[in-house]
Amino acid sequence: MTSFEDLLHQFETRFSRRHFPVTPATLYDPAEYILGIGGKRIRPVLCLMGNELFDDIRPDAFEVATALELFHNFTLIHDDIMDKAPLRRGQATVHAKYGENSALLAGDVMLTMAYEYLNKIDVSYLRRIVSLFNRTVFEVSEGQQLDMDYEQRTDVTLDEYLHMITLKTSVLLACALQTGALLGGASQGNADLLYQFGKHVGIAFQVQDDYLDAFGDPAKFGKQVGGDIIANKKTFLLLHTQQTASAAQTVELAHWMAYPEPAAKVAGVLGVMRACGADAWAAELKARHTDLAMQYLEDVAVLSNRKEPLRAVAAELLQRQR
Ligand code: IPE
Ligand code: IPE
Ligand code: MG
Ligand code: MG
Ligand code: MG
Repeated sequence: MTSFEDLLHQFETRFSRRHFPVTPATLYDPAEYILGIGGKRIRPVLCLMGNELFDDIRPDAFEVATALELFHNFTLIHDDIMDKAPLRRGQATVHAKYGENSALLAGDVMLTMAYEYLNKIDVSYLRRIVSLFNRTVFEVSEGQQLDMDYEQRTDVTLDEYLHMITLKTSVLLACALQTGALLGGASQGNADLLYQFGKHVGIAFQVQDDYLDAFGDPAKFGKQVGGDIIANKKTFLLLHTQQTASAAQTVELAHWMAYPEPAAKVAGVLGVMRACGADAWAAELKARHTDLAMQYLEDVAVLSNRKEPLRAVAAELLQRQR
């Protein structure tokens, strides 16, 4: 079985090259820019791991892995517009660098390019994989819309939050694993178990993302720390704080949430979150979903030692600082 690092290397060797024409540069440079500023490449590697869990990696898995990474980067470009984010991977976001109109179009061509890669795979897999991919694209869009809808609401529940992050983030990790599994010849039952593994790893992954957005080290995180607080995102941190706050803390939280100056708003909200133990609760929420993920992985009917890279990646993602 191949480690994350080795699969990452295999993927990057194929992926790190131009994917778009040279002209018009105003259209394609923004797309090449976001692909060139790094990223952890988790989804493509999960696709390769899903394949290798069942059989040797097929060349088609690299096409699907490329499609997944292109789709992911498309969502990031549009997400950064929606979230008014200035920083991504330690660099200016696409819309900050090239303007919103170019960022929208760069996203559009990246989504289309993702389908160009999918279209290269053997026809015997094409329908199942495109249909899973399409379902995932719909779900990610639903999650992104709910994420924005929740910015305007003050009564979001933890279950609604979990549903929203499942859609916007975790189904893509699950899809990556399941497309790999299908290419590896897995039975539908095993592919479905692996999907559930990915779904719960993905929930823990977004919990860690939301934790880092509030409490991360700006030098490592690569995104604007406090962005979720500025945008009134209904993360588990805020929901937990609302649920556990005393009467005085509730007043204090409302004061800071409505505060017009961003830096003071972030510092004020973080203070109440800390006082309510929201940061410590992240560990519990991550552990709950990682445990569930591991149970699904144990039920996949392949030799236990084949699962080692997936166990390692699930553990690693929980501790990530970027
Ligand atoms: C960022 O995903 C978007 C989320 C779903 C949290 P990643 O943290 O995988 O971003 P990159 O690709 O490594 O930059
Ligand atoms: C984004 O969630 C999920 C998608 C891009 C679909 P976030 O908005 O938390 O992602 P980051 O923190 O900007 O990477
Ligand atoms: Mg965002
Ligand atoms: Mg967002
Ligand atoms: Mg985030």
